Formats: sequence, structure tokens, C-alpha cells
Amino acid sequence: MDPTFENYELYLDNIAGVMVIDMEGTVTYMNEQCAQYLKVKKNELVGKNVLEVFPHSKMIEGLSYNERRVVFYSSYAGIGISIQKPLFVGNKKVGLLEYDAIQGSEFLYDFADKYRLFLDQEFKYLPREMLLLSGTKYSINNIIGSSQKIINVREQITQAARSNSTVLITGETGTGKELVAHSIHNLSNRRKNPFVRINASALPEALAESELFGYEEGSFTGAIKEGKKGKFEQANTGTLFIDEINHMPLKLQPKLLRALQEKEIDRIGGAKSIPVDVRIIAASSRDLKELIKQDEFRQDLYYRLNVIEIHTPSLRERMDDITQLTESIILDLNLVMGKRIAKVSPTVYRMFEEYDWPGNVRELHNVIERAMNFAEGDSLLPEHFEFKQVIFEKLYQQSEHESNQRTESELLEEENPIETVKNNAERELLIKVLSDCGQNKSKAAEVLKIARPLLYQKMKRLQIEK
Ligand SMILES: Nc1ncnc2c1ncn2[C@@H]1O[C@H](COP(=O)(O)OP(=O)(O)OP(=O)(O)O)[C@@H](O)[C@H]1O
Ligand SMILES: [Mg+2]
Repeated sequence: MDPTFENYELYLDNIAGVMVIDMEGTVTYMNEQCAQYLKVKKNELVGKNVLEVFPHSKMIEGLSYNERRVVFYSSYAGIGISIQKPLFVGNKKVGLLEYDAIQGSEFLYDFADKYRLFLDQEFKYLPREMLLLSGTKYSINNIIGSSQKIINVREQITQAARSNSTVLITGETGTGKELVAHSIHNLSNRRKNPFVRINASALPEALAESELFGYEEGSFTGAIKEGKKGKFEQANTGTLFIDEINHMPLKLQPKLLRALQEKEIDRIGGAKSIPVDVRIIAASSRDLKELIKQDEFRQDLYYRLNVIEIHTPSLRERMDDITQLTESIILDLNLVMGKRIAKVSPTVYRMFEEYDWPGNVRELHNVIERAMNFAEGDSLLPEHFEFKQVIFEKLYQQSEHESNQRTESELLEEENPIETVKNNAERELLIKVLSDCGQNKSKAAEVLKIARPLLYQKMKRLQIEK
């Protein structure tokens, strides 16, 4: 076949994802490639509404534009990018043509790699400079979830961003404290100014003071000759995020308190105080009130820090967010790992709901990442999780068995019948395994394929005597 004008259909069929709709949204044309991509017969869909064919299509929305536009979409094959062009006959708009610029994640990674390479070559230093310009990595849009608890957190962030008061973020490990700190800065009117981060647990006590407050020329051996600015001065006009504030050396706490109250700092070996305009955000995964009782944290500093308190809820407290979090994590990891996971088996979600998640969203991320390494196709299945599989299988066999034996009136009396059945089954299993193991917790944890601390947590929750 000659590649002549007569063969236009051949050319057309080789463009990615061509589809046309009329002003009603009815599909009037679809090329072969598009049909194959959507796994449908080419002519079967002509005459149908586009949303019936492709529920997430943005073509109807595209009918209200007059110019060519770029649209991102997600499908089973990952993320795609299409171009939409309204069709005109004379001055009259008659429909919309869409074709794919990038079809599926594979092309997207390829595109991203080449784009990065191109930018690197064209503007060797520009990408790095741009990253350095903004000190933060996250914004409020990265906080995923729609449970009431997380909605409250987002509201508190917005409110905190409007003021200059000190914020104390509390919450278990992996609940997003860092995310909250970055988001507050990015929403505040300091967003264009520095965001400086310091982790008090990573600071050797001897260095902590000079890291925070800096030092003057020649103030100690090993000091840089011309002196050095501390984090407070670096954060001037911006935000200083003190992570793991619970590890702040006791000796340094009065000096920190003074900086917060007087809004001025003293460099080590400095003769006069230096005024600073810094907004402080601190985070702690330990309960500071407990530390105060043990004389490890100063009460006056606590009150000064705790002007606005934001508590990040544990994953257990917002289990209704787990689907949304999982989907978002998979989308991110698809890109990073070059995978195309689009589905999660309902049993996996049941497993997730059973688990206590002591490491919260960070642990969820790790568990999903590990499972994705085993997944070949487009679905995440229970067998991809090394994770606690055996216990869940046992649990479900037992709970099905039990719930079958209950009468309707018995169930009606229960406030949360499913929860009760699950808890009973879990409790029974734990008691049995503990007894089989002669009450040896390490052994029992091994048999149950859970970590020992989690076993303790479960025993506490299910009121099993130690
Ligand atoms: N609500 C959320 N939405 C999306 N991702 C989240 C959320 N909460 C936490 N994460 C993710 O979980 C991981 C851990 O979050 P982060 O580092 O903010 O936890 P943390 O509370 O500071 O924990 P730690 O006390 O251990 O430092 C990050 O990858 C973060 O992106
Ligand atoms: Mg953190």
C-alpha cells in the first residue's frame, strides 16, 4: 500500500487515541488505536454518549472551550495526557476532537526522563536552582483524606497560616507532622521567605547551641573564622521548623524560650543580641506533658510553644481514609517504580482494616511499596503482602463461622456487630496462640506474624491479661 492521500485512514488509525464527539457528547468517530487501547470494538461505541464509554472522560467539559487544550486523565494503564481541539465548520462549533499526546504511564516516564535530560542539557543549573529556592517539599494538597479528623487538621492549618503564633504539632510517628509544618508555611504570608528545618534528635548536645543560635568569630576552637549564622538567623522573616522538639537538650531550653519571648538571639561569643523575626513551628511525637512530669521538658517552654496545637490523628482513628490514601500512594509509586497498578482487591482492604498501623501512613506507604514489588499485573492482591496474611485468613474463617451462629435478635442488640465479631475472633485467636506458646510473647508474635509491640497493643485493646 502506497502511503498516498487515499490511505488517510491508515494514517489516522496510527495516531494515539483519536475520538470525536458532537455537541451532545455522542461519539461520532473513534480510530482503531483508540478502540484497542480502550479494549472495545471500533464501531460498537459510535452513537453512544462518551461518558457511557469512558466515565472519566473530560471531553464534554472540553466542548465549552474554543481553543486547543491539554488534559490529564487517569485510566487503567496509568496517567495519560490528551489534546482536545474544538471542531468548527465556518464559525459554528460542531464538536470536539481528542487525541493522546501521551498514552499510559510508560510513555509518561519516558517523556519525564527525556524532559529532565533536555532541561539538564539546556539549562544545566536551572532545575537545581529552582528546587533550592523553595525550602519546602509539601503543601496542604499533599494531605490526603476526607474523614472529619483530617478535615479538622486542614482547617487548623489554614487558621494557623493566618497568624504568626507558635504552633506545636503533636501526633504519633508517621502521621504527617512534617507535612503539616510545610503546609502552614506554604499557606502563610511568609511563604516566599525561608523555611528552615532543624531536627532536635539529630543534634549532638554540644553542637545544638551553635546550630540554633550561631557563633561569633573565634569563639571556640574549630569555629569558622568569620563566625556562623544559626538556624534562627537563617530563618529570619520566614519559618523555623523544630522537629522532635522533645529531644531539645534541657540546658538549651531557657535560651530557646528567651528567643521566643524576646524575639532576639545571642550568638555564642556574641557581644550583643540580634533581633530576629521568625515564626516557630515545633513537632513532637512524645507527649510533652509526660516529659514535663519527668523533668525532661520545661513547662514554661511548653506553654510558650503550645499557643496553637495541631494534633495529627493516627491512621487507626481515621480508617475511612485508608482507601483514598492507598490510591494516592499507588499513583505516586506507579510513577516512581514504573508500575501500572490500578486495582486493589477488597480482601486487601479488609486486611488493612484489621491491622493497627503503629507506624501510621508511613507504614502504609512501606507495606504498599513492598507489595508492589511483587505485583506483576495491574492489581494488588493479598498474596503480594507478606504482611500478616496467615492471621487474617484465620480471622475471617473464624468470624464467618461465628457470625453465622448468631441470631438476628442477638445481632440487633450489638452496637457495632461486625466490629464485635471481629474483635471476638481476634481475641480468641490471640488467647489460643498465647496459650499454645506457653504465654511466650515473642514466640506468639512470631506465630501470628506480627511485631511484638503490635501484639502488646492488641492484647491491651482486646483486654487480654499479660
Ligand atoms: N494525611 C496524609 N496524606 C498523605 N500522606 C501522608 C499523610 N500523613 C502522612 N503522610 C505520609 O507519610 C509519611 C510520613 O509523614 P511525616 O514524615 O510527615 O510523619 P511524621 O508525623 O513527621 O513522623 P515522625 O514523627 O516519625 O517524624 C510521609 O511520606 C508523608 O508524605
Ligand atoms: Mg517527622
